Amino acid sequence: MNKKVKISMLMLMGFLAITSCGKKETVTTESTEVNETTTGEGQQPEAASNVLVIEGNDQMQFNKAELRATAGKPITLTLKHVGQVPKEAMGHNLVILQEGTDEGAFTSKAIAAKDTDYIPASEKASIIAHTKLLGGGEEDTIEFTIDKKGTYNFLCTFPGHSAIMKGVLIVE
Ligand code: CU
Repeated sequence: MNKKVKISMLMLMGFLAITSCGKKETVTTESTEVNETTTGEGQQPEAASNVLVIEGNDQMQFNKAELRATAGKPITLTLKHVGQVPKEAMGHNLVILQEGTDEGAFTSKAIAAKDTDYIPASEKASIIAHTKLLGGGEEDTIEFTIDKKGTYNFLCTFPGHSAIMKGVLIVE
């Protein structure tokens, strides 16, 4: 429990530090705590928590290209669409693919699957997990477990997005 709290605090501090560039008071007070938590967390691997959060925005970007998790334990992944554009124009989902999936072929099938929110029924075997298709301000949390260590590609299958909106989930 402590680790989780520390990690989320660390992430929070990171955001604060980024968002409050101009406000020197905030940065100074918070950075002391960041140092403390960093020291305490030093012994723990980065993947200690299987709670993952990733954001998509109106600029067609995920805020992370790499996610890490531990094999054999439930992973909770939340995708947040932090933009404002509705899903018809700037929809985002996050689809995690089995290793070895032909991404080009998968994406072609996906962008044609508008009726099922760009999740192609014929390619279910290639999908480990996926979120719903989200519009601005929406979020979705999914839970899944990956037993086999490896590097799994993830992408957004909304038409035209996967060239930029993609990354890897490293399972250790
Ligand atoms: Cu997208």
